[in-house]
Amino acid sequence: MTASETRPLTATRSFPADFLWGAATAAYQIEGAAAEDGRTPSIWDTFSHTPGKVFEGHTGDVAVDHYHRFREDVAIMSELGLNAYRFSVSWSRVQPTGRGPAVQKGLDFYRALVDELLAAGIEPALTLYHWDLPQELEDAGGWPERATAERFAEYAGIVAGALGDRVTRWTTLNEPWCSAFLGYGSGVHAPGRTDPVASLRAAHHLNLGHGLAVQALRAALPADRQLAVSLNLHEVRPLTRSAEDLDAARRIDAVGNRIWLGPMLEGAYPEDLILDTAQLTDWSFVKDGDPAAIAQPLDLLAINYYTPTVVSHVPEGAEKPQDDGHGNSDHSPWPGADMVAFHRAPGERTAMGWPVDASALYDLLTRVSDAYPQLPLVISENGAAYEDVVAPDGSVHDPERAAYVHAHLEAVHRALADGVDVRGYFLWSLLDNFEWAYGYAKRFGAVRVDYDTLERTPKSSARWYARVARSGELLA
Ligand code: NOJ
Repeated sequence: MTASETRPLTATRSFPADFLWGAATAAYQIEGAAAEDGRTPSIWDTFSHTPGKVFEGHTGDVAVDHYHRFREDVAIMSELGLNAYRFSVSWSRVQPTGRGPAVQKGLDFYRALVDELLAAGIEPALTLYHWDLPQELEDAGGWPERATAERFAEYAGIVAGALGDRVTRWTTLNEPWCSAFLGYGSGVHAPGRTDPVASLRAAHHLNLGHGLAVQALRAALPADRQLAVSLNLHEVRPLTRSAEDLDAARRIDAVGNRIWLGPMLEGAYPEDLILDTAQLTDWSFVKDGDPAAIAQPLDLLAINYYTPTVVSHVPEGAEKPQDDGHGNSDHSPWPGADMVAFHRAPGERTAMGWPVDASALYDLLTRVSDAYPQLPLVISENGAAYEDVVAPDGSVHDPERAAYVHAHLEAVHRALADGVDVRGYFLWSLLDNFEWAYGYAKRFGAVRVDYDTLERTPKSSARWYARVARSGELLA
């Protein structure tokens, strides 16, 4: 029996007074102004402009025009009672070629945004890399090449120099799993390559980039700054308790989770991962000194969670079910784990087709906290896309989104009550935005954006979330 089951039932769940109540976004998904003030193309500009890659040819050229409307967006956050906001910096806006000097206008934009947030009492949480590699660095080989990790650390130092006086919370990478395996493995994300060896090389150089960037940040920032990485940790569940399914779960846990947690937090790649991928690579791209460079102490581990990952083993020669687990494509994003089938539980699903299961968030938080008890956690993304309906008066009533967030906050609260150190929750997303390969077809926002007029309208879920954020209490 867990501690929470023995506590008396109460109708209200209180969160710690200093809990961060935030919302999250990412540069390419909201900024627009793709060719303004010196910004040059990132891999997502190139990819979205390549026919057939993104739903109906949508691009982030204008996105939701946050670059010009950030003051209005900060005012909305204020109205919603948020005390934190997670955003990312566009690398090609501040260092267009990925090398050399910074563009002052790019840095000025983020300084103005941060100042606006601070003036509103909203704590900025800055992510350095949310998938938009400068195209020139991809042309030079991209993440499969070691030099990209070194460039990333230089860029981290530039941003730290410009914003370190006013930003406390820093995150190196967002969901490197997606950058490596959707970008270079299944190819459903930019740059759209389908090479399992390149995807493993990319994973290593993302890890290395993270470690080198942490070192650059520590060197440039005041000592009290909080450094983190955001991982989309997969809560992997075997379909049955058979030895084969348990082993399928182990393999996905290795290449989905421990490929990051091992080097970043324990100083080594898991041995079973090296064995599972031995037919693809001997991992000789890992140089002496890399594990130590990667394993830099962190202040927080940031977790993005949406849905559990249910897997089973597929025997040799048997037909594999269609669903390949994150990003439909002919190619698997999971190197070394070909004989694994992914299952979506019956029952409620979001507009992404992702099953709603808040119990997996509780399981994930407690498991990670048991493994790394000294490391505080934060939910850097959680939320849901739904088919929002606009009423004749322009309002959007989205009780399913509020119910999704409610259930997941309940799971966070249960983890807190059981002793897990969770410092905050960032709703994905503040605004409807460019949902990568799905373009603007999937809406995750608490705030509706009319893509013709760019008008913003808080949905009913935003009003509900505002009440929770203001009171710090989740009503039953
Ligand atoms: C994770 C990513 O970080 C974010 O960019 C994306 O929009 C959400 N998941 C929803 O898919």
